[in-house]
Amino acid sequence: MGQLDFSQLPPVAENPDLALQAVLLSCREITPSKTPDKEWINKGVACLDSVDITTFIAVDGARVVATGGLDRSDPTDYEEASIIDLAVAQSRRYEGLGRGIVEMVEATARQEGIKNLYALSTMYAHGFYNRLGFLRVTGVDYVKSLR
Ligand SMILES: CC(C)(COP(=O)(O)OP(=O)(O)OC[C@H]1O[C@@H](n2cnc3c(N)ncnc32)[C@H](O)[C@@H]1OP(=O)(O)O)[C@@H](O)C(=O)NCCC(=O)NCCS
Repeated sequence: MGQLDFSQLPPVAENPDLALQAVLLSCREITPSKTPDKEWINKGVACLDSVDITTFIAVDGARVVATGGLDRSDPTDYEEASIIDLAVAQSRRYEGLGRGIVEMVEATARQEGIKNLYALSTMYAHGFYNRLGFLRVTGVDYVKSLR
């Protein structure tokens, strides 16, 4: 195991390998039944450069082991945003990496004056979001007030 570093994902052109690893990690961990094709991967990588999305990563050595993003793409409400594509490598679960990524998302959202942070949870992650202080609003939707 190398040194673990949390950071904001740099622009894709600056480090395409990190971007690709982040997209593949979230696909593999969130929708394991999907085998991503080239078109899907390119689309995912392009999304990372969207002005609405800020992606965070945890890197161990040269390997992306956790990722997640802040998405403020709702054009109707500047006080609401969502956590998207949160994923931790299977072999690195329960080490605090998911919490570390969510804390970076929350800190950035707070700085921007976002009041409510939403998360669309997988069935697997309900306990995780509860533990981090999110409240369930409907079926798979969670929210945390950042006030
Ligand atoms: C959900 C996920 C991001 C959690 O990441 P993680 O790094 O294992 O979580 P952490 O180690 O930071 O856990 C933080 C806390 O939540 C708890 N926790 C983690 N996963 C949990 C789970 N599935 N159910 C209940 N509690 C959980 C931990 O025990 C820890 O509690 P503590 O404060 O008592 O120590 C990870 O399991 C994952 O990538 N899952 C597959 C993809 C997914 O479901 N993504 C969710 C968003 S779509």
